[in-house]
Amino acid sequence: MKILHISDTHINGSKHFEENSLREILAEVEKERYDLIIHSGDVTQEGKENHYLKAKKIFSGIDIPMVVIPGNHDKRSGGISLFKDHIGDPNGVKETESGVVIYVDSGVLDSDIGRVGMTKYNMINRALKLHNDKDIKIIAMHHHTLPIPMAGRERNVLSNAGDLLELFLRYDVDLVLSGHRHYPNVYHVDGTVFVNAGTASGKKTRYGDVNSYNVIEIDEEKMKVTTHRIGENSDTDEKKYFRKEKRVFHDFGKRKFRLIHTSNSFISSSRKFKEKHFFNALNKINSLEGDVLVHCGGIVKEGIPKDYDVASAYMSKFDVPVVYSPAGRDINYLGYELFEEHFGEIDQKFRDKDIYLRGISSAQYDSPIGIIGETGRERLFTEFNEVDESFKGIFLHHNVLPIPHAREKGLLEDSGDFLRRAVDEKVDLILTGTSSHPFAARVGETVVVNANSLSSVYQSSLFGNSFNVIDVYEKVIVVSEINSLWGARRVLGIWERNNA
Ligand SMILES: [Fe+2]
Ligand SMILES: [Fe+2]
Repeated sequence: MKILHISDTHINGSKHFEENSLREILAEVEKERYDLIIHSGDVTQEGKENHYLKAKKIFSGIDIPMVVIPGNHDKRSGGISLFKDHIGDPNGVKETESGVVIYVDSGVLDSDIGRVGMTKYNMINRALKLHNDKDIKIIAMHHHTLPIPMAGRERNVLSNAGDLLELFLRYDVDLVLSGHRHYPNVYHVDGTVFVNAGTASGKKTRYGDVNSYNVIEIDEEKMKVTTHRIGENSDTDEKKYFRKEKRVFHDFGKRKFRLIHTSNSFISSSRKFKEKHFFNALNKINSLEGDVLVHCGGIVKEGIPKDYDVASAYMSKFDVPVVYSPAGRDINYLGYELFEEHFGEIDQKFRDKDIYLRGISSAQYDSPIGIIGETGRERLFTEFNEVDESFKGIFLHHNVLPIPHAREKGLLEDSGDFLRRAVDEKVDLILTGTSSHPFAARVGETVVVNANSLSSVYQSSLFGNSFNVIDVYEKVIVVSEINSLWGARRVLGIWERNNA
């Protein structure tokens, strides 16, 4: 199957629209055989009738199947009704010879944000179930599921991206296509490839980039994604992924380290802190003989002396060394000073037996918003590259991936830049601790794990409060979750180790 993926054509007069770029891309269809064109939205600049008529005219010469979905710009000026009149249904399922494309309108009227509401979520769920045996399963929507680099604040990631991410991974979707950020990007997550297109013909390109489009070729074994850039210095960017990842492991090798991963303990004398859960978990953790406990923020309920006094007494009962990274609540009020007094530096490190873990504070006092920032990120990765341990991880409070059962508010503001860099640098492990729901996935070669709340009433998993155990063997990494109260264990994922 060969797909031409275009996005963000922004068709209007000539103010926002570079018609030559689009003509050049569409000429591709005459030169080579494609099975399908997918346009991931922002067909027009303002959703006006003359824009739609012009779009219709430009695309009229194409005689291969085409899937076109609306973007936020197409819904401006009440444009969604014109989209239906001139282009077609904004949501649907298109079956091809070997696959299926499920496409949805992720826009919100008169807004730039993205959201796939429960009705459409259920529609995708049903369609995936119905077409589960198809060889190639593709999702198309305008807004991105995963944070995109070089695109500023991550405000326009789908507001329920975590639920969708979990759904796509559960059904082993092959390909998720989107646009919107006008910057091309590809992530490979547990066998699912997430492709973002740049703008095909919009004049608003980012960071000096030019207009571009993607070509995606899928066969039995692999998927090849090529980004083609338009213009004099037109270059291409090619990535290849194997489709049938090894999922069954017979030989783990010897266990090298065991990490315990907790967050949102909420230690305090308040009833929001579940003391029994905490102490049951503490006894269990002490019996597990881990090498280190990484606490990803939310140690205390509030950054006040009373809570810190209790927390420092309780945390001292762990037999295992503990490293911390703060949440906003840990450094609120007097917390910034109390954290240092009771738990040490804000950015902590752990080094032992060929393992290097580095904490980076993403929290700000008086704000739930997390950010690392360009300077912090630069310093972190420079330092990271200077150490030569064979297993390297980063820990922080805020989310790097969207988390199921949570809105995007826990996501680090510069998560796109951070995630891209970490994946490119092949960081082995990233541990996070907000949104109070467990989750684990591998992006590229980086395993990203989020911890549920250890012992606070605020948690959103049916499995209940929990902590994670990350066992690093010679050949694989096993991530499991252990219920704080009962000690029941559930595996969140097993991945082959890099260079194993
Ligand atoms: Fe756009
Ligand atoms: Fe857009």
